[in-house]
Amino acid sequence: MSELSVKHLLGIKYLNEADIQLIFETADNFKEVINRAIKKVPSLRDITIANIFFENSTRTKLSFELAQKRLSADVINFSAAQSSVKKGETLIDTVNNILSMKVDMVVMRHPNPGAGIFLSKHVNAAIVNAGDGAHEHPTQALLDSYSIRERLGDVAGKKVVIVGDILHSRVALSNIFALKLQGAEVKVCGPKTLLPKHIESLGVTVETNLRKALNWCDVANMLRIQNERLDISYFPTTREYTQQFGVNRAVLDSLDKEIVIMHPGPINRGVEITSEVADSDQSIILDQVENGVAVRMAVMYLLASKIK
Ligand code: CP
Repeated sequence: MSELSVKHLLGIKYLNEADIQLIFETADNFKEVINRAIKKVPSLRDITIANIFFENSTRTKLSFELAQKRLSADVINFSAAQSSVKKGETLIDTVNNILSMKVDMVVMRHPNPGAGIFLSKHVNAAIVNAGDGAHEHPTQALLDSYSIRERLGDVAGKKVVIVGDILHSRVALSNIFALKLQGAEVKVCGPKTLLPKHIESLGVTVETNLRKALNWCDVANMLRIQNERLDISYFPTTREYTQQFGVNRAVLDSLDKEIVIMHPGPINRGVEITSEVADSDQSIILDQVENGVAVRMAVMYLLASKIK
């Protein structure tokens, strides 16, 4: 297969396994490119991409922009905080104004679930979802699986536990879809209050005892508490959360085997993970960030090839 089955990347839910393998094989080539002395290729020289961010971001925004520059695309950046959205302009008006400047692709982060899907139905450009509320964060899940494949050789058959605030996490949902598509076994672990009801219907198992979950897995993906989305208290105190669901060196040393530690960032050091663990050889957190550039190059390159 040499092209994606989709015109937009709105969520992992809309991809098939062959799409994921194509993205990974393309990312392998781009990873080689970004480690050369000359890190740039002319692949998207005639393509203009707008990054429109209605929510804060460090990694995703910088990673998309660097990926676009490595591909020689023309790039414009839009941040809602400094824009006319503050004067009451709608999402469609905002994007149509940007598109009238002859933009081919829009990378969007938005606090509302489904914002990318909505946009894809109303504007004529390829849309890449860079995170929509608590719904999906597809490029994060792709770079996470790519990093597991790099460290462990394959994703199929691997046991992955996602730990923390599953209820409010777009990273968790996209990872579940991506890992299941590739044949991994997935478990979620966290306080009962932060596990969605009926999460098992997605083909995952549930464990509320962190040590048991870690002894089961090959990989633990540690998520932060999404404080910006918490409307009520879901656990008594942060200290108690850390005691039950935080990973530290002593917890890792007490396990029967050496597991791989991941985190999508931003990390709340000392809450879900200690610095000792985050910065250890078992952690692939910075490999995830490096791989994000290659994976996003692959996604935008493959989507651009479908623009008529
Ligand atoms: N992982 C992630 O989405 O980080 P940012 O919010 O900094 O982009």
